[in-house]
Order: sequence, then C-alpha cells, then structure tokens
Amino acid sequence: MPTPTQQNALFLQAKQGEFAVASRPVPKLGPGEILVRNEASGLNPVDWKIQAYGIFVEKYPAVLGIDAAGIVEAVGQDVTRFKTGDKVLYEGLRTDGNDRATFQQYTLVPADLAAKLPDSLTFEQGAALPLALTTAAVGLYNQEGGPLFTPPWLEGGRGKYAGPIVVIGGSSVVGTLAIQLARLSGVSPIITTASLKNTALLQGFGATHVLDRNLPAAALREEVVKIAGGPVSTVYDAISLPETQNAAFDLLAPGGKLILVLASAVDEEKKKNANDRSIVGTLGLIQLPQNVEFGRALYSKLTSLLEAGDLKPLRVEVVPGGLGGIPTGLEKLKNDQVSAAKLVVRPQETA
Ligand SMILES: NC(=O)c1ccc[n+]([C@@H]2O[C@H](COP(=O)([O-])OP(=O)(O)OC[C@H]3O[C@@H](n4cnc5c(N)ncnc54)[C@H](OP(=O)(O)O)[C@@H]3O)[C@@H](O)[C@H]2O)c1
Repeated sequence: MPTPTQQNALFLQAKQGEFAVASRPVPKLGPGEILVRNEASGLNPVDWKIQAYGIFVEKYPAVLGIDAAGIVEAVGQDVTRFKTGDKVLYEGLRTDGNDRATFQQYTLVPADLAAKLPDSLTFEQGAALPLALTTAAVGLYNQEGGPLFTPPWLEGGRGKYAGPIVVIGGSSVVGTLAIQLARLSGVSPIITTASLKNTALLQGFGATHVLDRNLPAAALREEVVKIAGGPVSTVYDAISLPETQNAAFDLLAPGGKLILVLASAVDEEKKKNANDRSIVGTLGLIQLPQNVEFGRALYSKLTSLLEAGDLKPLRVEVVPGGLGGIPTGLEKLKNDQVSAAKLVVRPQETA
C-alpha cells in the first residue's frame, strides 16, 4: 500500500485548551530519518501537565506525545540500520512543526535514535519504555553533576558498582527503569518505596527491599539506614514531589547525590546544611544536544538488552479509542489512578 498523504493526529488546540482529533499531512522524510507508522503510543504525566498548566509548548495547535513503537513505513537517504517493515521503538519529540511527536499515526524519527523491537515484545510494551528509560539512564549515567556511572551497555560498566541506592517511587514507569538499570550496574541493595501490593513485581525487576511509600520521612530513614548500614550516596527520586524530595534528601550520606525528575523543592534550610550533598535534575529527552551521543550508544544496544532480558518489559494498559482515548487516559494519570503500569493507545484504531 502506498503511504497515505494525510493522517489522524490528536491536537492540543490552544494553550490550556481542549484536545481534538483532526487530519494533518504525513511528514516528508529527510536524510537520516525513518517514517514510522505508530502501532502504539505511550502516555506520560507531562502530557496532562502541558494541558493543565500551559508549560513547555508555545506554538498551537500542538501534537504531543513522546513514546511510541511501530513499523518502518519508509527510510530516508543514508539510512542503513532499518528497512521498510521493520518493527521499532523510539523516543519522539515535541517540536513546533509537530512531525516528531507521537500522538499521531506517522512520525519522523532520526534513524540512529530508534531500535528494532524484539519479537518477544508487543508494540505496547515497546511504547512503554523510551522516555522513562532515557530519564532513568541520563540521571544515573549522563547528567552533569550526577553520579556519572559508566553505563552497563559500555565496556566495563556491567556490574561495576557496589553499594546501595534508594529509588523513591519504584513502581512508577521511571522508577521501574531506574531499578532495572541499577541492577545491571551492580548496585546493591536496591531499596525502593511503593504501595506494598507492588512488592513482588518490583522484586522481579531487581529491587531487594520494598518499603511502604506512606512511611513518614523519619521512619523511612530509619529503615534505609538499617538495610544499607547507613545513609546512602545515591537516591533517585522518580516522583520528586516536595515531600518525597525532602525525605529523599535526608537519606543521603555526606557527598551523596539526589537525582530528581522535576524541579527542586528541597527546603532551603536543608540545603544550607547540605554537608556536600547535592541535587541534580535529569531531563529524559534523548534528542537534546547533551543527550544525543549517549542516546545513540544506548539505542545501538537496546535491542540486545531487551532480547537478553537484561531490561524487562513493563506492565501496560491499553486505553481504548485510539488517539481519541488519550484525554481519558491523561485524566487517569492526573488523578493518580494508575499503579505500576504504562498507559498506551493504538493510533491506528482512531475512529
Ligand atoms: N525529567 C524528565 O525528563 C521526566 C521524564 C519522564 C517523567 N518525568 C516525571 O516523572 C514523574 C514520574 O513519571 P512516570 O511516568 O514514571 O509516572 P507514573 O508511572 O504514572 O506514576 C505512577 C506511579 O507513581 C507511584 N507514586 C505516586 N506517588 C508516590 C509516592 N509519594 N511515593 C512513591 N510512589 C509514588 C505510584 O505508586 P504505587 O501505585 O505503588 O502507589 C504509581 O505506580 C512524573 O512527575 C513525570 O512528569 C520527568
């Protein structure tokens, strides 16, 4: 079948406006790019935050969406890694031109920032991974001021590290990937917080100790010190709400690093008595200049990491209705109604 010239996309029509499905052109390929027919697109908390708070996007109508997996529809000049018909997963990008976002049926992707999807994973499982994987990986391995561990996909990185880590919010999509990467890096014990109903699931990903996310800060510190033998040098806060950040900061040993996924909200008073403890933010956007090289290396190894089971797929929940189902899914994310799962839609099922 020839590639269509028009497609369905979900537009955020105006700043803090409503979402609506409408038609837009299928993007035109450039050199080094692939055109992907999206079979699954993942929803992220940032998508509802953009709509609710009017942040990050200036040009409207805008197509959002960062996570996807699908089938290569066409390849641009100079692309040798992929051919038409390959199954891939990739991290998209919001841009003014809308061509790289994933809440649409076809997306343009830089070929060196996509990976073949192993047959053992569904499209939905593939679409669950990209942004969270980058966010976890950049925080541990590539963020200036962070721990800058050697990634486990580079020579000498696998199992290189010993010593504890705490992952706040291990059942979040980002937290689950941080646990898995910490395991590949050799870090142990891997202590995490979550609802205790998710304990077995998180142990399956590599957590050694799952603590109740509702523990008060002092009790959490007491438990962590008991398990780790003292305060710890690395804490990854995958939730980064003011209360988790402040509790997380108190878990750090002198010189330790707190990695955040949202802006810092650690109390000024705590920071004054930091004792060389530091706070670093992580940005999971793989197409940012500071992440591109790192991303290329990761995506060149991602298929084999998935095939070998080094990285395990996450639980997914399919939101019905194709692209038109996204607003319902975002409402669930906003209302904290999703536990230990990634919400995905199937763009080709859009009515
Ligand atoms: N900086 C970046 O580039 C970047 C990239 C991606 C995401 N983010 C941000 O990272 C955060 C997580 O995103 P996500 O997609 O991973 O979220 P998510 O999976 O939708 O988060 C839901 C999970 O969070 C857990 N949770 C909620 N509050 C918690 C708390 N106080 N303590 C421990 N666990 C808690 C819940 O655990 P239980 O069900 O077990 O209770 C649930 O499993 C969001 O704020 C998002 O905007 C930032």
